Amino acid sequence: MAWVREPLDDAVRGRRRVIAPPSTATIGTPAHGAKAALKAELDQPNTVFMMGDNPALPKMPERPTLGDFFRLRFDAFSTSHMLQSAKIAKDRGLDENVVMACLLHDIAVAGLISSDHGYWGAQLLAPYVDEEVAWAVEKHEALRYFADESVGYSYPEAYIRYFGEDYDPPEYIHREHEAARKHRWYMTSRLVTINDVYSFDPAAEVRFEEFEDIVGRNFRQPAEGLGFDGSPVAHMWRTMIWPNNFL
Ligand SMILES: [Fe+2]
Ligand SMILES: [Fe+2]
Repeated sequence: MAWVREPLDDAVRGRRRVIAPPSTATIGTPAHGAKAALKAELDQPNTVFMMGDNPALPKMPERPTLGDFFRLRFDAFSTSHMLQSAKIAKDRGLDENVVMACLLHDIAVAGLISSDHGYWGAQLLAPYVDEEVAWAVEKHEALRYFADESVGYSYPEAYIRYFGEDYDPPEYIHREHEAARKHRWYMTSRLVTINDVYSFDPAAEVRFEEFEDIVGRNFRQPAEGLGFDGSPVAHMWRTMIWPNNFL
């Protein structure tokens, strides 16, 4: 079974560790019915659910920083996409708030959850970044569906491929877009979408280190580490540290 950590090695204290995938990852698929079978695995000798460090993942430091999540948790594709986005913004000499929003706009996809990723991402960031940055991350969710030819943003070609020619986003996305357009920070979020669509070059190599200075000035890294500072979103960062915990 794909969700059982084999073999009986030291890394898991000689035990088989069963990973139960989160409901958001399985609901609507045949895998959603697999929970009973996974639980039945516990009848096997030396078998428990995964709790704590999964040896398949690099161990996170005790006090994780934003950079640790980029290097040790986020998937390579999303990481490269965000770094390329931020690099374009930086090379264009855009405001640091724009560079930060580009650098962080898809962190929810990269490490937590894809559906409604702009909102999840904004929540993850809110305690640590300028309000404008979190706002821009949240609103890019809606803005990317709507062209603004006056600033050179067309509906992404990729979305025709992803969702079909006839895709129309739900009503709440339309409403969010209309409200965002009238907001004083509209261009910050619009620039996220503008620097977004051109940032899928698989050959590009941009490193997080290139943004350490900007991050240092614009991200309030908690001394206790992300996940352990008692902020209202600390649990969301902990979920990315231990994404396979049964509970
Ligand atoms: Fe996005
Ligand atoms: Fe993106």
